[in-house]
Amino acid sequence: MTSARAISTPALIGLTALVASAIAAYGYAEFGGWNAEGAGAAARYTARFAFPIFVLAWSASATATLWPGSWRSVLLRRRRAIGLSFAAAHGVHLGALLIAVLLFAAQPSTKTVYGGGFGYVMIALMALTSNDWSVRKLGPRNWKALHTFSALTIAVIFAVSYLGRLEDKPWLAIPTLSLLGLAVLLKLAAWMKKRTLRVAAA
Ligand code: HEM
Repeated sequence: MTSARAISTPALIGLTALVASAIAAYGYAEFGGWNAEGAGAAARYTARFAFPIFVLAWSASATATLWPGSWRSVLLRRRRAIGLSFAAAHGVHLGALLIAVLLFAAQPSTKTVYGGGFGYVMIALMALTSNDWSVRKLGPRNWKALHTFSALTIAVIFAVSYLGRLEDKPWLAIPTLSLLGLAVLLKLAAWMKKRTLRVAAA
């Protein structure tokens, strides 16, 4: 528990980017070096690495609402650092996919380009406003609306990406979609708990 509290946010972001880059390098090594197959693997593996970090950040608040205390409270307190670490990991996915597309002529569908592109705009907006100054500037309500909408957009992109892999990669799609489904259930349960408490207090 103390290590989770001890590591600073910049260190966590840096470490995550480093691990994501090592995973990208592994993708190339697995396919014999600097080639199109390696570039595709690097893009896949970096998105796969970023996914659980996203789910952790996205479900931190719900988990702490349902079971306050212990590591759940630490997770909630470090949610901003975890969210920024996701942005860093997915930043490496951006690098990997740009190499795959620009240098090795990978041809993502129009849906991926526009949907994924919009996703990156949302990731950038969340990362740029993950600070107290932005919360004050935007106001807590607007800030929360932006982050709720952006995180939901990213969750939908992951869901669509993995639903699209259900047929050819069930070993990958089923656990990832189950994890995303669990996060949605946790958020719904937390929302209902808060509402019940509000009604009881009213
Ligand atoms: C312009 C934006 C984007 C482009 C061009 C793009 C392109 C790619 C490419 C080329 C791959 C490898 C495909 C393969 O070899 O099977 C990939 C995989 C993937 N991308 Fe992206 N991507 C973009 C944005 C995003 C965003 C914003 C997300 C999530 C929020 C995302 C999630 C994924 C996932 C989940 C995979 C599959 C990973 C796996 O196999 O486990 N991508 N993307």
